[in-house]
Amino acid sequence: MAPVKPIPESHEYRQKWKTRRGKRSTESKARRLKVYLDNVQGKTVASVEARREKETLKVYPGDLVHAAKNKLHVDLLVQRQYPEGVLASQLPRFDPDDSFFLLPPEDSKEACRPLHPLFMAARFEHVITKPGQKEIVKAWDALQFVGVKHHAGSREANRSSTLALHLGVWEVQQSFPKVTRDTRLQTPEALSAIDRLLLAVGTHVAPKILALLQRYAPKQLDRQLRTNKVIKRLLRQEFLLRPALDFRGAFFCFAIKEGTSEVIHLDWNDDLDTITWLIALGEWEGGEITLVYKGVERRIPLHAGSVFGFMARTWPHCTTPVTSGRRIILTCFSDSNLLRRASRFMLHHQGVIII
Ligand SMILES: [Fe+2]
Repeated sequence: MAPVKPIPESHEYRQKWKTRRGKRSTESKARRLKVYLDNVQGKTVASVEARREKETLKVYPGDLVHAAKNKLHVDLLVQRQYPEGVLASQLPRFDPDDSFFLLPPEDSKEACRPLHPLFMAARFEHVITKPGQKEIVKAWDALQFVGVKHHAGSREANRSSTLALHLGVWEVQQSFPKVTRDTRLQTPEALSAIDRLLLAVGTHVAPKILALLQRYAPKQLDRQLRTNKVIKRLLRQEFLLRPALDFRGAFFCFAIKEGTSEVIHLDWNDDLDTITWLIALGEWEGGEITLVYKGVERRIPLHAGSVFGFMARTWPHCTTPVTSGRRIILTCFSDSNLLRRASRFMLHHQGVIII
């Protein structure tokens, strides 16, 4: 007769359950993230790399890299370069059939910075799926329907006739990371509509941008994943209450609005080596992103569902007017204060050296 197994005590059951289903280790989390990214990257990058065009720029648009954050500097540079004035809609149009990359000049010193991305600007076609686009537009419409309050500062009002809503986490003009006022200070109905929009962007945009970062800017991705960990720790309560705030490090905040930014500007709050991602949704004509810098200037149409990544802190830019239709534009970014804080935090608490 086979020996009878003793019945385990209840705490032994719990222990067994814990070892199988408890918290994942850091290695296990990293392994799962890699599998996830490889899957999304496989699909995203395959469609991008099937057809692509590369152009190496003749000059590096870096005159304002070390300048103080001041709109006057941008105006002076543009004035110096275009003494007769510049009209965005008259600059050369650059629109290959499919994805393309604008690469920094091979001999440029700036592009040798350790964290500099592989490209200065790139458009990736057919990235956001049609159902994904539809869901984001629906969530945006629902938010407009319930009514939303804008808390934009004067800088934002200066560069565009239509105000953007900033949703997510940032540390712009503050001394600590915070969920933006646009995300927090709303009516209960608007808050739930915002959560729906955050979720739609987190589901349909963030994984694609993570995959592009992993392929074309792995060092930035590392830094942003580390930052995400720190921010989630610092804002633990906020992330527990509103999990849709977590874009998994693809970016930390996005600006969304209808219309364009007509005034030539730099995105001063962005980090020098990060890529800012633009996604346009809807059906429209006009509204071409215009990169303004003598010798490498160009107008670039954004197509619905494509993703345009560029160095918005380095390259003066604006958008031509929308001539017809409806264009919803998402600008996904990671502000420099947030990235720096996370680096300092890790250095202080874990003694990790960040490059
Ligand atoms: Fe901008």
